[in-house]
Amino acid sequence: MLMLGIDTSCDDTSCAVIRDGCEVLSNVVSSQVDLHAVYGGVVPEIASRRHLETMVPVLSAALSAAGVSKNDLDAVSVTAGPGLLGSLFVGVSFGKSLAAGLGLPLCGVQHLEGHIAANFLREDIPDFPLLNLVVSGGHSDLVLMTGHGAYQVLGETRDDAAGEVFDKVAREMGLPFPGGPHMDGVAESGDEDAYHFPHPKMVGRATDFSFSGLKTRALQYFEAGGKSAQSVPHLSASFRKAVVEQLLYHVEDLVMSTGAKAVAISGGVAANKLLRKRAGALCREIAIPLFIPPKDLCTDNGAMVAAAGHYRLQAGKTDGPDLDARSGLPLLSWKSAGEV
Ligand code: KG4
Ligand code: ZN
Repeated sequence: MLMLGIDTSCDDTSCAVIRDGCEVLSNVVSSQVDLHAVYGGVVPEIASRRHLETMVPVLSAALSAAGVSKNDLDAVSVTAGPGLLGSLFVGVSFGKSLAAGLGLPLCGVQHLEGHIAANFLREDIPDFPLLNLVVSGGHSDLVLMTGHGAYQVLGETRDDAAGEVFDKVAREMGLPFPGGPHMDGVAESGDEDAYHFPHPKMVGRATDFSFSGLKTRALQYFEAGGKSAQSVPHLSASFRKAVVEQLLYHVEDLVMSTGAKAVAISGGVAANKLLRKRAGALCREIAIPLFIPPKDLCTDNGAMVAAAGHYRLQAGKTDGPDLDARSGLPLLSWKSAGEV
């Protein structure tokens, strides 16, 4: 079964071909980093225009890297939301047209469901219930998954997402765009105990996250130090440690209280070196299997969308020409047309 996956949710145009839900035959990502770097962030209008230009070449590259033709495909999956609306429109319109033209089933995929599915692109897939930490530029969620398509959100950020604060603090410190991976690199040579960041106390659901206080504190430290370049590695290391410790703070308790059989981390921030290291140590200590995709499957890509689409198709959840791009598509209310 060959599934095409398309993702144009933000600033990367990606197409991938996967076989039987787990084997990645190709995963082509056309990055727009150079276009947006000059603005220090993604400019939605520029992103959607570039998707229009790259969509067809990226599909051709993905088909040829997989050694297949479009007539060999069995189904098409595409991210329907959440994301930048103009960007999503390009992928959704393209995916719908391609599926209609080839007479193939179409699966709209919720982007976070896609990130989670990146951990199923392997033969030894995780058991359920699975405790997911989904950390991207727009989301930081703890999600219990009891089966494919069955999600329960146990915690989410009350303000900024983890990727967003990495990007914002990095930008203020003069690091290149996108800030997250650059700060991760710079942090490697810094002292993670140089600056103190308190763990936020949550009123209400204790398993929620809050990162905006850490961001403000980091910027205050940077200002107070005269914005000196020497402080950047130490501040990056200390800030990264604070974010990572908060992300992992409730994992052990949630594993115990939910009876999770495995932990999975996904989303762009799952590429973070310290998060990977600390999560590995924690899960070894509590003797639970940990799944984190290789770095190229953490950041946005078509293969994860194809994997999520594979499970939707297996469950008979397909979409028609009325599939809409939606900028804010929640994981839990995500249903195909006609589904109740
Ligand atoms: O999942 P993703 O590619 O796109 C969204 O769905 O948002 O995540 C992008 C986010 C950005 O904020 C980026 O800075 C962050 O992931 N990121 C990282 C690292 N690599 C990507 N953050 C920290 N450390 C990294 N190594
Ligand atoms: Zn993403």
